[in-house]
Amino acid sequence: MDSRFAGKVMLVTGAASGIGRRTSERLIAEGAVVHGADLAEVRIDGVLGHKLDVTSESAWQTLIMSIAEQHGRLDGLVNAAGVIRMGSTMETTIEDFRLVMAVNVEGTFLGCKHAMRVMQRHGAGSIVNLSSTAGLCGSPGAAAYTASKGAVRLLTKTSALEAIAMPSRIRVNSVHPALTNTPMADAIVEQLGGSNEIRQALSDLMPSGRLAEPDEIASAILFLLSDEASYMNGSELVIDNGFTAQ
Ligand SMILES: NC(=O)c1ccc[n+]([C@@H]2O[C@H](COP(=O)([O-])OP(=O)(O)OC[C@H]3O[C@@H](n4cnc5c(N)ncnc54)[C@H](O)[C@@H]3O)[C@@H](O)[C@H]2O)c1
Repeated sequence: MDSRFAGKVMLVTGAASGIGRRTSERLIAEGAVVHGADLAEVRIDGVLGHKLDVTSESAWQTLIMSIAEQHGRLDGLVNAAGVIRMGSTMETTIEDFRLVMAVNVEGTFLGCKHAMRVMQRHGAGSIVNLSSTAGLCGSPGAAAYTASKGAVRLLTKTSALEAIAMPSRIRVNSVHPALTNTPMADAIVEQLGGSNEIRQALSDLMPSGRLAEPDEIASAILFLLSDEASYMNGSELVIDNGFTAQ
């Protein structure tokens, strides 16, 4: 068994589903101690599950403090909790916009803030934030989501530069998956009308004609979490099989 993460303490949000779930499973398989947090119940063999609403600062503080007390360290954080509400700039309600920004941006900000404080004490750590190809270029019909993922991209770079200026070895990077085969992709299809034609049209947007699989995103996340990525900081790792190369 690969032991890149033997004994490393990791926290993954959005661990109940999709990319966060697969990332947690892969970390467990590589020997990490994994805390999985989500609004929904996290049920993965070997993962220590926690209920967490990422928009609550007090809940973040409680969780991160308890992990730090338990292990004396936090080696990695993956901010994978996220939501999407499809809608153009003219159609999106302010309620939907605020929800998407609260979960995707405020949730990621709070995770970075409190994880970096613990990592600074320990001297090192790696944070991976889930942005998206929708954080790199416009995506008509996804106004709130693109705004949130663009914000995650630049928050990541700012946090990385702040980390580099500190004596500790903290790295903060973002990953930018194209459409990935998770319940979020199902939610997009549903919000666009739910037909097979919509599902096919989304696949057809991809140069390869297929969506990414969560495992393919988890591989990139694990690389950034690992010491193999020691010179990657403030980077945006695009995992899109050519979508943004067009
Ligand atoms: N699936 C895609 O096509 C795709 C593409 C690019 C980026 N992403 C991003 O990857 C991340 C993971 O997405 P996914 O596809 O695995 O989605 P998913 O819907 O399968 O999982 C998201 C998880 O986040 C949790 N969550 C939602 N609100 C929360 C909150 N307030 N507090 C805690 N947990 C909360 C949900 O319960 C769910 O378990 C998201 O940030 C998403 O925006 C997804």
